[in-house]
Amino acid sequence: MTSGIFITFEGIDGSGKSTQARALAEHLTNQGHAVVLTREPGGAPGAELIRQILVEGDPERWSPTTEALLFTAARRDHLEKTIVPALEAGKIVISDRFADSTRVYQGTVRSENRALVDALHDLTIGREPDLTLILDMPADVAHARGVARDTAEDRFEEFGADFQKALRTGFLDLARAYPDRCRVVEALRAAEDVARDIAALTDAALA
Ligand code: TYD
Repeated sequence: MTSGIFITFEGIDGSGKSTQARALAEHLTNQGHAVVLTREPGGAPGAELIRQILVEGDPERWSPTTEALLFTAARRDHLEKTIVPALEAGKIVISDRFADSTRVYQGTVRSENRALVDALHDLTIGREPDLTLILDMPADVAHARGVARDTAEDRFEEFGADFQKALRTGFLDLARAYPDRCRVVEALRAAEDVARDIAALTDAALA
């Protein structure tokens, strides 16, 4: 049994998840909570190795099915090595992406693979966050931001702006499917305003 609290950030590439995850970690740390800030793909040494082969290189490098397997393998390692131990120690875990990303990217937008994604999740992960913050903004704005970052980790950005549009719809559908844990946050605003809303939503969820 675990006693900590598990919070995830989701959204399209370039929606500001990483900045907001850091801001929330700082907010909760200032309140005296023990916080672990982590990310996917990655978040543990083995999972970070899998990350490298997923986010770099030719967009067609992996089929959607192989991708689903690799993301799930990375998640299992992250869960075993980082998430579960922290929750068992009573900490708040904040993860920049988790299973909802696989549901949307590999399960819906890359291909209609949702049954496979759900089966893999049930068999090997079997855990949902307590709270999921979905950062929502127009896909073209987010895509332009992502491309402007100009890193080697651009395999998913190379799929283009229409891909990001479909992802946005996918995340909004997911928020409707899991209303108990998901909160949609309007992310096309000053970062401080977004952070203030997220802090208020989280404080309410923790209360
Ligand atoms: P991330 O590091 O969050 O990139 P960004 O900061 O650009 O949002 O994630 C890397 C990429 O991996 C991102 O394009 C989304 C993709 N991804 C999936 O396709 N499926 C998944 O399950 C996860 C966790 C990420």
